[in-house]
Amino acid sequence: MDMPIELSVIIPTYNEKSNISVIIERIIKTLEGKITFEIIVVDDDSPDQTWGLVKKISTADSRIHLLRRIGRRGLSSAVVEGFSAARGATLAVIDADLQHDERILPDMYAASSEANLVVGSRKVEGGKIENWNLIRRWVSNIATLLAKIFLVTPLKDPMSGFFLLKRETFSRIESEINPRGFKILLEILYRSKEKKIKEIGYTFRPRVAGVSKLSTSTIFDFLYSLLEMRFGRWISLRFLKYALVGVSGVGVNLASLWLLHEKFQVDASLSLSTAIFLSMLSNFFLNNQFTFRDYALEAQALWVGFFRFFLVCSVGALINYALTQFLMGRGGNLYLADLVGISVATVWNYIVNQHVTWSSDRG
Ligand code: GDD
Ligand code: MN
Repeated sequence: MDMPIELSVIIPTYNEKSNISVIIERIIKTLEGKITFEIIVVDDDSPDQTWGLVKKISTADSRIHLLRRIGRRGLSSAVVEGFSAARGATLAVIDADLQHDERILPDMYAASSEANLVVGSRKVEGGKIENWNLIRRWVSNIATLLAKIFLVTPLKDPMSGFFLLKRETFSRIESEINPRGFKILLEILYRSKEKKIKEIGYTFRPRVAGVSKLSTSTIFDFLYSLLEMRFGRWISLRFLKYALVGVSGVGVNLASLWLLHEKFQVDASLSLSTAIFLSMLSNFFLNNQFTFRDYALEAQALWVGFFRFFLVCSVGALINYALTQFLMGRGGNLYLADLVGISVATVWNYIVNQHVTWSSDRG
């Protein structure tokens, strides 16, 4: 009889030929003699033939398994398939590129006697990130903040791709998981509503070999799935797209305000009104190409449309302003009041623009 497997470690790979043997060796070194384990590499038919190397390793060591997926791509879905194929009582996922510190795996496993979900964390004591530039830090912090707000999670590092969970927790939600994009931990948090969670700090190392598969579309995908997780049950997909464009508009607004005012020393009110105008312009074009793609305006109708959009949004801005003032007058907190104002204005803008700006029945 085989020993029961205590821990299954899933390693998703895409073009990680120069990292995969090292990470496997390091995991073995960490776990051997302490925890009975198996390692499952889920490779999406990497062009660099990572799978070939893993196949060789797995022939020599029965604890190593290869799951080669043909014609499919995606980090989250690879992780879910790995979990489904695993036999261990606990399931862990770790990146192949040596950015996650495999040496905390035993601690993570030990913590699973108390917690159902254990997260390798860069944002608790003992955790940090090496060599990230300002922009990457900023993007990561904003994403983390949004995830916290939308999912109401106690996790300090909900964006982690390094975690461990009990098999029961996974089995309970296996059939509901929507394995899209990069953020499988968020999806698991959302579906399982797990409260027994622990974070363990580690240093996120820079990638040495190979390239990251994260792209700009990953970021949009992330924002989109956050909105969908939070509101998908109640609200239409088109509204979600509209709201997403709205969020991008805030970015355009802040960036141009900063550029004009700080960099080019334009005075505050001119910078502000230009920033508002620019964000309306970018929102209009994005909504035209994305949210209302099926009613997209062209040529002359485009400018008429923009004029309408501009008027509708100006009324929205007034609603925002008036409502915020009103709530403040009743002793509300400024930021909270503004948030309510923004939400109501967004719904107004959406409903009216849908009929006035992108209406298909207007000929
Ligand atoms: N099977 C499979 N299919 N594996 C993939 C795919 C895919 O489509 N895309 C990426 N991977 C594998 C990579 O080979 C690597 O082992 C791991 O998933 C992480 O991919 P990276 O490209 O290195 O991602 P990253 O470093 O930008 O992002 C990591 O850190 C983020 C936090 O900053 C991931 O762990 C994210 O989940 C995490 O949020
Ligand atoms: Mn990486």
